[in-house]
Amino acid sequence: MTGGGSRALSGTPGRSILYTPWDNAAEWLAALRAALPDRPIDLWEGSGGAPPGPAQAADYDLAFVWQAPEALFEACRGLRVVCSLGAGSDHILRHRAKLPAGTAVLRAADPLMADRMADYVLAAVLAFTQNHDLYRRQQAARVWQRHAPRDATATPVGLLGLGRLGRRTAEKLQAAGFPVTAWVRSQRAAAADSAVPLVSGEAALADLLGRVRVLVVLLPETGATRGLIARPLLDRLPHGSLLVNPGRGGLMVEADVLSALDSGRLAAAALDVFETEPLPPDNPLWAHPAVTLTPHSAAISDPVSVTQALAADLARLAGGDRPDGWVDMAAGY
Ligand code: GLV
Repeated sequence: MTGGGSRALSGTPGRSILYTPWDNAAEWLAALRAALPDRPIDLWEGSGGAPPGPAQAADYDLAFVWQAPEALFEACRGLRVVCSLGAGSDHILRHRAKLPAGTAVLRAADPLMADRMADYVLAAVLAFTQNHDLYRRQQAARVWQRHAPRDATATPVGLLGLGRLGRRTAEKLQAAGFPVTAWVRSQRAAAADSAVPLVSGEAALADLLGRVRVLVVLLPETGATRGLIARPLLDRLPHGSLLVNPGRGGLMVEADVLSALDSGRLAAAALDVFETEPLPPDNPLWAHPAVTLTPHSAAISDPVSVTQALAADLARLAGGDRPDGWVDMAAGY
């Protein structure tokens, strides 16, 4: 079972608190109120709401957050469930010492977000196989010269991580003809019916890297994955590969990605996440000709879709069932 069930929400709904740094806090509030009509929901200071007094903060048993400040977790001592407004839970788990014992953490298990992520990756991979960068440069110079594309079937993709977003991404890549192999932390029970060939372990990763042309990083950021995308790993890729990282900036060592780009080991990189966000204006990735850079927007959370997914998961939790977005605190995602 879920393990946090003892503190799961049940009985009379308490108050909820919302924190978001995004500029559409009012949309989130409206979506949450529509999805959970029995629950009073307040906005935390900093996301456009008045600061709750200390007595009121203690009343909150449910929080909906994206990158909330430590002060929220320090003040809200009655939390039973904390929901992420995104697919990741690292921004909550970094405050785990402040969470009351037994607090359940849920991340958004939203199919729309999975579709958005899959589309981002597919677009990046197709831009690579279709030589978009090269043609853009040729267009600027008014050069009329044809280049054969890299065919999808001859462009093997290695996918690091096969969670909800990774599975949808693999499906879309496979449907477009790309051979996909996923590297996962452990060969789980689910592996038997996976439509994606799976490998796990360090030796299998090294072998996989040697035979792909595209590396897609969709791992959660944990102590075990931080800094994984560094020179030793990148050096195993064939010369002229593509790196796509819409996972977490902390997974990669940016200096190593830059040197792999400069040496031609990486022909291109599509990067949506960075060690520091927003990406500082003087970061060399901004100006690198082989980098396509987006501002952590690969799978933007849609307020209505995410809150519906979270509300369905809260109902599962209250009913004693395992939520789709259940976060395993020991595993860290
Ligand atoms: C975005 O990074 C998310 O975790 O949803």
